[in-house]
Amino acid sequence: MLKLQTVAEVRSFLQPHRAAGRRIGLVPTMGALHEGHRSLIRAARAACDVVVVSIFVNPTQFGPNEDYAAYPRPLEDDLAACRAEGVDAAFCPPVEEMYSPQAATTVSVARLTEGLCGAHRPGHFTGVTTVVTKLFNIVQPNVAYFGQKDAQQAVVIRKMVHDLMFPIEIVTCPIVREADGLALSSRNVYLSPAERRQALSLSQALNWAREQVAAGERNVATLTEGMRQRITAAGPCVIDYVSIVDADELTPKQRVEGNCLIALAVRIGRTRLIDNIVVSV
Ligand code: PAJ
Repeated sequence: MLKLQTVAEVRSFLQPHRAAGRRIGLVPTMGALHEGHRSLIRAARAACDVVVVSIFVNPTQFGPNEDYAAYPRPLEDDLAACRAEGVDAAFCPPVEEMYSPQAATTVSVARLTEGLCGAHRPGHFTGVTTVVTKLFNIVQPNVAYFGQKDAQQAVVIRKMVHDLMFPIEIVTCPIVREADGLALSSRNVYLSPAERRQALSLSQALNWAREQVAAGERNVATLTEGMRQRITAAGPCVIDYVSIVDADELTPKQRVEGNCLIALAVRIGRTRLIDNIVVSV
């Protein structure tokens, strides 16, 4: 496996593969790779001739009071994980390679970024769509892989790819969870043992909502209130949001109908956790 650090290195590595008509898959990550990331890499490995994983903790998607400096960066372990999954090249650029101090251009997606995490993390999605655009232009993959874990991110990137006519297929992979239901996240390492137990309330609240919907409940206010109660009963936390929205447009719903995304973001101690499910009625 190659470790590449510059745009020029990525381009010269991929040039002969592209010329030979090989299918190139990109898995964008911020590293601290876990089984969730690895499921994306496996999907890419199974469907593509050449697999590139980017490992870049993107400063522009972190707010001023967020965890950019503290974000875990176990690069050697990440490279070993990529090697074990049969990745062809890991792209791990320094910040200066991705961002010039003279840069004047960003990419933003309107509307879809206003609610959910966008309402609580101003500028976050512009940071994501700008860096993903750069990665798309550097790698020019045929297909790129994203996780349903970050449901809003996946919808926003699909919209960007459609609106800006990137010739790239977007694949969204299911959420990988711990045996007890906690969604895997690079941020789970921040949780104390007590917070880790408390964090189970997120997936439990979502499962409760899924059961209620299966039993015929359609009232969104009833469902979100029940989820909030279950989360706050588990211990001290700050709920950023518990929302039920249209799964494609991310617009708020009053009643559960069609494909609905049930999504939540909760801060437990200093750790912000997100989780979601999709229900179809
Ligand atoms: P990161 O948080 O490292 O996640 C990289 C990809 O892994 C994302 O598409 C995310 O949805 C997926 N992922 C994370 N946890 C997962 C889980 N438990 N199950 C399935 N997939 C999971 O998302 C980012 O990085 C960044 O915003 C990025 C797109 C790389 C742009 O900087």
